[in-house]
Formats: sequence, structure tokens, C-alpha cells
Amino acid sequence: MATVLYDSGAMLTWAYQCILFGLALLLYFSLTCFYNVFLHPLAKVPGPFLAKISTFWLFGKEIEGDAANNLAQLHKKYGPLIRVKPNEVVINDREAFVTIHRQGTKFYKEENFYNSFKGTHGNLFNIQDPEDHSRRKRLMSPSFSSASLLTHQDIIYASIEPALEAASRLIRLEKQVPLFPIIRKFALDSISAFAFGFDSANPTHVDDNSAGKIFSALDASPHDLLVFQHFPFLRTLTRQLARLFPKMVPDDVLFLTRYGMEKLQASREAKLPDRPGLFKEMEQLLVAKDQKLTDDELVAESSTLFFAGTDTTASTIAFSLWHLLHDKDSYTRLQRELETVMPETTSRPTLKQLEALPFLEACIKEGLRVTCAPRGRLPRVVPSDGLRTNGYFVPPGSVVSIPISYLLYDENTFPEPKQYRPERWLGDDAKNLESYLYPFSRGSRVCIGQTLSMAEQRVCIAQFVRRFSPVKYEPLRPIQGKEYVTWVMMDDLAIRLRENE
Ligand code: HEM
Repeated sequence: MATVLYDSGAMLTWAYQCILFGLALLLYFSLTCFYNVFLHPLAKVPGPFLAKISTFWLFGKEIEGDAANNLAQLHKKYGPLIRVKPNEVVINDREAFVTIHRQGTKFYKEENFYNSFKGTHGNLFNIQDPEDHSRRKRLMSPSFSSASLLTHQDIIYASIEPALEAASRLIRLEKQVPLFPIIRKFALDSISAFAFGFDSANPTHVDDNSAGKIFSALDASPHDLLVFQHFPFLRTLTRQLARLFPKMVPDDVLFLTRYGMEKLQASREAKLPDRPGLFKEMEQLLVAKDQKLTDDELVAESSTLFFAGTDTTASTIAFSLWHLLHDKDSYTRLQRELETVMPETTSRPTLKQLEALPFLEACIKEGLRVTCAPRGRLPRVVPSDGLRTNGYFVPPGSVVSIPISYLLYDENTFPEPKQYRPERWLGDDAKNLESYLYPFSRGSRVCIGQTLSMAEQRVCIAQFVRRFSPVKYEPLRPIQGKEYVTWVMMDDLAIRLRENE
């Protein structure tokens, strides 16, 4: 009997402690909410109630895969600033974009967001410290310069050849041509050749099995990384678990590192007749500057190039071609223009010749704009002076971002912004439009691959359009995909083509 009494007393104490703990939690949660809503330095910035009190609101929006579009609609209700997290504001304002993304900016990349892209080592994309960043950039940028890329044009032509062959083969079989997978493989081959040197004996460069694994990693990461961007402690936890249980790590992600390491070793041993590739050039610079990077650090850069440079370029080319292939007037106009520098369907004009074609340039600009490959937030931390914008003061330490899509889809600058209209870029106000066209961002953290991507776009679009035509100009149907930090294509863009005479 005594034992029973003792047990029920203990149970009561236990239940009492649980209730107390629950009440303490409730109190903590209520006080945090009260602080976030009424006392927080961002309290005056409007936004959905749930966004003010927790990160779950934005996570919920982003995981749906349509976040920047949803946020753009919310600006109509809340104005140019929206509080999207307790400590984060998105801003719809071109001037603020130019201030934040300028040369020598003190608005540095936000750690939790950018660390989600980090494997074991930092890389050009996610290094936050400005000095570390410029040291790394100085090692890489010479290979990306326009002068260096002029010597690279043969590699781009060699990389496009298998893509054109694949399309021709399907045409002969009277099958549809899946534009996106074919162009995606071209972009991957081209980057791999750029990074690790060109092997003329093997112009396809990345074998199909490796390409499949790299594409699975590219398909999954924009969605999967969202969890780590919003809940950084899960990244730490996952890394610890991966150390204890290495088999848990998805093989496709590990593959990219293994692949980079194999290619790096191979590029050191190869005696290539063509260009040696970015990594060999970087290693020469490291020796000249008496600096060192480990192989793991070099491979971290190679993974980033695949992530940052493959689907961004491939989607942009595919968007342009898809729209052009459904618009007889524009397609014919572009073909006529290309014939001036490509007398034969197999001609290979220089990059300089292609750059001088106004309608091709207009098509490429419009493709970059409509695709807007970097769709999501690119968060930055407000420096010690704070940020004054649109009548608000955003205090130091807050996080701000301006999705690039806000500028590229600005209705006042680009009427019917989702429509692909190359002729916008041929009008009198083209200069004004250019001041909104920042698909590669701007300032210190502008895309390093911009010139390479533009060269790939020019060559790929010119070769496709000069060589093929649609069997029939069908009405345009929307392109399927999702909007995470980048646009994720979920559409093969299959179409019936014919060879031009
Ligand atoms: C249409 C094609 C492309 C678009 C629209 C694009 C867009 C961008 C944007 C907006 C950024 C800034 C991201 C941020 O602030 O967080 C960026 C950075 C970067 N991009 Fe690209 N990119 C493209 C192609 C490429 C290619 C082909 C490569 C490499 C081969 C590349 C490599 C990088 C790297 C390494 C960075 C980080 C640069 C730094 O922080 O210094 N991108 N890109």
C-alpha cells in the first residue's frame, strides 16, 4: 500500500513538472512572439503575422517551389518591403538592389543560407569574407576573361557537336527532339572541358553514366538544400551523422566529389593539345603566387562550377529556343540574320561575329530575362551603417534580399513580363531596359561564369536555329518547372524538328 502511495505521489510530481515545463515553454514562445511582433527592430516592416514570428512561414512558401512569384504578389498588399522572417526583409526596389550588389559592397552573403551550399570546404560561391573571396577570385578570373574565352570557342563548338548529332539522329528516326536534356548535356560537357581541359579524342567529355548521376544531384539539391537554409542546425546534425554513418549520404552527391577528384588527377597527367583547363591554370597561378590549395579545396570549386553553371545556362538556352521555335516571325528573322555569318548550316562563325548580330543578342537578352535562372532570394547581411530605403531604416545585422526576378519581371519596365519578346531590346529605350537586366547579378559577387555562359548561349542558339526548323509552328505551351533558389526545369521540351537545307 505504501509503495502505491509513493508511486502516485511521484507520478503527481512528474506530471506537475511536465505542466511547469510546458507552461515555461509557452511563456518563452509567447514572449518571443511578443518581442518579434512589437519590439523587434524590424517591427515596423509589414508582413504576414506568421512570418514575423517564425522561419516556418517562408520555408513553407519556398518548399512549394514558387516563392519569388508568391512574394512578388505580396508586395502588392504590403508595399516595397516585406518582413519574411523574424530577422529578414525582402525589398522590391531597383535602387536598393544597386546599393546592395555593388563593387566593394559591405552587404556580405548571409552565412546560414550560403553555408548550405558548402560541402567540406568553402568555394568562390559561398565564401563570405571579402578578402578570402577576392584572393580566390584572383586565382580563377583569368581563365574566365573574354580574352581567355576566345581561345575556348573551339571547345564550345566541339561540345555542341554531339548535341546537334543527337538531334539529327532523332529527326532521321522521325522522333521528337527533347531540347532540354540535349542542351543540358552540352552545357555539362562544355563546363567539364573548360574546367579540366579538353580531350579532343573524347568530345562528349562526360560519359552518360556520370552525367546521369550529376543531373540527379542537380535536380535534387535546390529543393533539398532549403531545409538546411532555414534550419541550419540540421546541416550540422546531418554532417555529424554522415561522419558516423557514411552510407547515409546520397551517392549522387558523393559522386560529384569523386568525379571532380578523378578529373583533376587526369587533367594533371594529360598532355592535352588544346586548352589545359581552369584547374591547371589555377595551379600555375598558385605556384606563381606562392599560395596553396589542397585537392579537396580545388574539387569543392569544381562541384560549384557544375552546380552554378550547368542548369542556369542550359535552362536559359532551352527557354529561348522553345519560345523561338513557336514563333515563326522571330525564328525566320533570326535564321536570315544568321545566314549572313553562317553561309552553310554547318558554318562555325567566331564569337566576335555572333556578338555583332543584333537580333541574336536581343533573343539572348530576352532569354536571360524570361528564364531568370536565379529565381530565389540571395540574402545579404546589413552592415554597421544600416540601410535606409523607401522610408524604412533596416538596422545592422538584419538580413535583406532582392530576388533578381523582381527586376527582370518588373511590369513597368517590361510590360507583360513573362512574354518572350526579343524586339523589346531593339527599341529606343533599350538602354533603360539594360539597367534592369542583371541576370548575373552585379558588383563584387557578380557571376564569374557570365562570359562563358554568353559564349555557350550564342554558339548553341546559332547552331540550332541555323541547322533545324520546327516541322510545324505549334501554339506555345507553358514550360514546366519549379522556382527554388534557381529555376529547376521539369520539362524535356520535346518538339518535332526538321533539318534545314
Ligand atoms: C545563364 C547562366 C547563369 C546565370 C543566370 C548565373 C547567375 C548567377 C548569379 C545571379 C550569381 C550571384 C549569386 C549570389 O549572389 O549568390 C552567380 C554567381 C556565380 N556563378 Fe553564375 N550564372 C550563370 C552561369 C554560370 C556559369 C556558366 C558558371 C561557371 C562555369 C557560373 C559560376 C558562378 C559562380 C562560381 C558564382 C559565384 C561568384 C562569386 O560569388 O564570386 N555561373 N551566377
